[in-house]
Amino acid sequence: MSNVLDVESLSVEFCVNGNDFYAVRDVSFHIKAGETFGLVGESGCGKSVTSLALVRLLSKLAKVHGNVHYSGRNLLKLSDREMRQVRGNEVSMIFQEPMTSLNPVYKIGAQISESLRLHKKLSARDAFQQALEMLRKVGIARPNEIMDEYPHQLSGGMRQRVMIAIAMVCNPNLLIADEPTTALDVTIQAQILELMRTLSSDYGTSVLLITHDLGVVAEMCDRVAVMYAGEIVEQGSVDDIFFAPNHPYTKGLLNAIPKIDAVTKERLQPIEGNVPSLSRMPKGCRFAPRCANAMEQCKTESPELFDVGEEHTSRCWLSKPKEANA
Ligand SMILES: Nc1ncnc2c1ncn2[C@@H]1O[C@H](COP(=O)(O)OP(=O)(O)OP(=O)(O)O)[C@@H](O)[C@H]1O
Ligand SMILES: [Mg+2]
Repeated sequence: MSNVLDVESLSVEFCVNGNDFYAVRDVSFHIKAGETFGLVGESGCGKSVTSLALVRLLSKLAKVHGNVHYSGRNLLKLSDREMRQVRGNEVSMIFQEPMTSLNPVYKIGAQISESLRLHKKLSARDAFQQALEMLRKVGIARPNEIMDEYPHQLSGGMRQRVMIAIAMVCNPNLLIADEPTTALDVTIQAQILELMRTLSSDYGTSVLLITHDLGVVAEMCDRVAVMYAGEIVEQGSVDDIFFAPNHPYTKGLLNAIPKIDAVTKERLQPIEGNVPSLSRMPKGCRFAPRCANAMEQCKTESPELFDVGEEHTSRCWLSKPKEANA
């Protein structure tokens, strides 16, 4: 299967109070055509910075290194004009908080039609018709009336549906969804996830789904990368990550989520300690200070990603393949 997106050694540096620090370091992954790829990790680990770097929406002050290959082009090398053509058309985004992404002074109909007029050069009338059709597809009741309303007149779940309508209306190749359901209550969350799944399979859209919720990953994704303190620490299929986790951090995350079908009344085990601040990263493995299995080497040397299965990698010295006997 061909890759829609190939991210190679993406790093993002910010300068704070005169000091440079890496918010994202050496992140590599690819997304195959039609698949949903999850990026999961605790708050502050660099998920949003990664996604914003891919589509060049970080401030100019951020230093971005690496390559982002999309459909034969390196997005990091495109001109601003070329990038605007890609964004919202071939690659679209849904963000966590719809109120900050919707423009409060424009009616819903105008906001959905806008990208059709801009990217597909449709007439106002055709764009309006397609926008209305898209509102129907995302399950908005009374779509005719909603076209004529403003964002503040809608509920949170409706706004998120509108965001999805805007993101999907140009039939993108790749959808980047950053915590698309975090702000919603669980029943609405399930409906929105179901809607995203149906639309992505109907349209054949590949999805980069960013979340801190492993339940959402299990529900939606084919493959997943687990991030910790700016780095990918483990990557594999959803089955690998849930049934054969390798990295101590992934195992810790899995032990910290409640299981509804647990037979025993085991207590949840939080991961001891805190995520290190980006300006004070430990020298060796970033997870070492919280890891029960840390060895001397972990405190001084940063591990690379080792193969631990087919398309399954883990950034842990304990998973380094044994040297073959000479
Ligand atoms: N513009 C910026 N300038 C300086 N530091 C930043 C900037 N944007 C993000 N950061 C830092 O980069 C780190 C990663 O932030 P990011 O928003 O990617 O986290 P996240 O994984 O998306 O978290 P959450 O789950 O809370 O959304 C954080 O420590 C954050 O403080
Ligand atoms: Mg975020």
